[in-house]
Amino acid sequence: MLTAHLTLDPAFRVAPVHRRTFGTFVEHLGRCVYTGIYEPTHPTADRDGFRQDVLYLTRQLGATSVRYPGGNFVSGYRWEDGTGPREQRPTRLDLAWHSTETNEFGLEEFMAWCRKAGVEPMMAVNLGTRGIESALDLLEYCNIDAGTHLSDLRVANGAKEPHAVRMWCLGNEMDGPWQIGHKSAREYGRLAAETGRAMRMLDPGLELVACGSSGSSMPTFGAWEATVLEETYDVVDFISCHAYYEEHDGDLASFLASAMDMDHFIDSVVATADSVGARLKSKKKINISFDEWNVWYLSRYQNAEPMTGWPVAPPLLEDHYHLADAVTLGGLLISLLRHSDRVTSACLAQLVNVIAPIMTEPGGRAWKQTTFHPFAQAAAYATGDVLRVETTSPVHETSRFGEVAALDAVATHDGEFTTVFAVNRSVDQPLTLTADLRSLGALRLEEVTTLSGPDPYARNSADTPDAVAPRANADARLTDGKLEITLPAVSWNVIRLARQ
Ligand code: AHR
Repeated sequence: MLTAHLTLDPAFRVAPVHRRTFGTFVEHLGRCVYTGIYEPTHPTADRDGFRQDVLYLTRQLGATSVRYPGGNFVSGYRWEDGTGPREQRPTRLDLAWHSTETNEFGLEEFMAWCRKAGVEPMMAVNLGTRGIESALDLLEYCNIDAGTHLSDLRVANGAKEPHAVRMWCLGNEMDGPWQIGHKSAREYGRLAAETGRAMRMLDPGLELVACGSSGSSMPTFGAWEATVLEETYDVVDFISCHAYYEEHDGDLASFLASAMDMDHFIDSVVATADSVGARLKSKKKINISFDEWNVWYLSRYQNAEPMTGWPVAPPLLEDHYHLADAVTLGGLLISLLRHSDRVTSACLAQLVNVIAPIMTEPGGRAWKQTTFHPFAQAAAYATGDVLRVETTSPVHETSRFGEVAALDAVATHDGEFTTVFAVNRSVDQPLTLTADLRSLGALRLEEVTTLSGPDPYARNSADTPDAVAPRANADARLTDGKLEITLPAVSWNVIRLARQ
């Protein structure tokens, strides 16, 4: 049996928990929109055609903001296509995903859906095939009260109140050769700066995100961020990070430790941003919008046959997650929370059907993937301030990261509740965790749950939606401010304590 220890103190404050950490992503990709959030013929569809079973699960997931409409899709998208009377909307080819876009769902539908889901919209503008003018048009349509051509058009389309979108992504993954309108860092940086500057002239209250690298393994990673920020430093608030993880060649131990890569990625981007700030003699800090992150078995698609035909909403990227994926995702959430001083917004990519925590059957059931659970628990229970935890833990060797601590953890504290989020990354050994909580005053155990099981590759399905779900962990004991609990191998754990 492994043993680990954790020390917690309310003085170990990192930053407030940012609600936007629990953002997600809806792209016009596969079945995320059509037969995902929107399916007018579904038995649960409301007057707007929104699946209420999906709305219900979105609220249960605790999503706080939703990025839209892409992703790669945005770089060829004309936002006007998704406004106005449906019967007049054009059908177009979506080059990014080799699909046909009917435009039946567009901007107005998305905003209405966000209101019903209780989430903040986060928009991306097309800097692939378009530029400053269309970004300004979209912003005028969304954020100006009335009395101009495009704001009046919005009102005529039924939205009397402005959509008041605050957070805007200046393009998507413009470093990627697969991106429509792919650019060099200098070209993109100039365009992003000019677009952002003009957008701020129209609405000074915006929060703007410049595209960082589409992954830390990109050959231009680091240099891309430095050049883009040299051009945009005064204009933007965020630089984006994107990261997807998967298990390679059955190497579960390395996969479970993916948060080590995320930690390093974030630290590298923060260091790069701060070095640009230092060179510019700026006091301003650029934060990170980690606006795409998840487990994604991308390598399976890289060897797939090229797409033929132009289907409408084909099933794409419908990864079916298992327990170890959920535990890894829990570790990534811990990494995001522990970096709350600089990661102030993040989006799990994506929300429904496409590498998603929520799955649907067209015309049928909606169900929770394993990965739904750590996200929903963190979104619900991470409140107040993030606390750094001091841990001592046994280590094991991994081929990708060398020595890895079995225990990874972070905590949050809001005066009333203290919650410890912890993963045991050992593939085969339970871990006895002791924690000294006396600095937090008199506490009682409120709720302790563990997501684990005998088979790390167990999955949920529409027929067995709760096969992998958090269960009460009756093993936890709290005596005189000292906690002891056993965390099974490959597990995500939430220990919730209340003030007495
Ligand atoms: O989330 C799926 C895709 O991954 C997005 O469209 C793109 O931005 C990224 O490469």
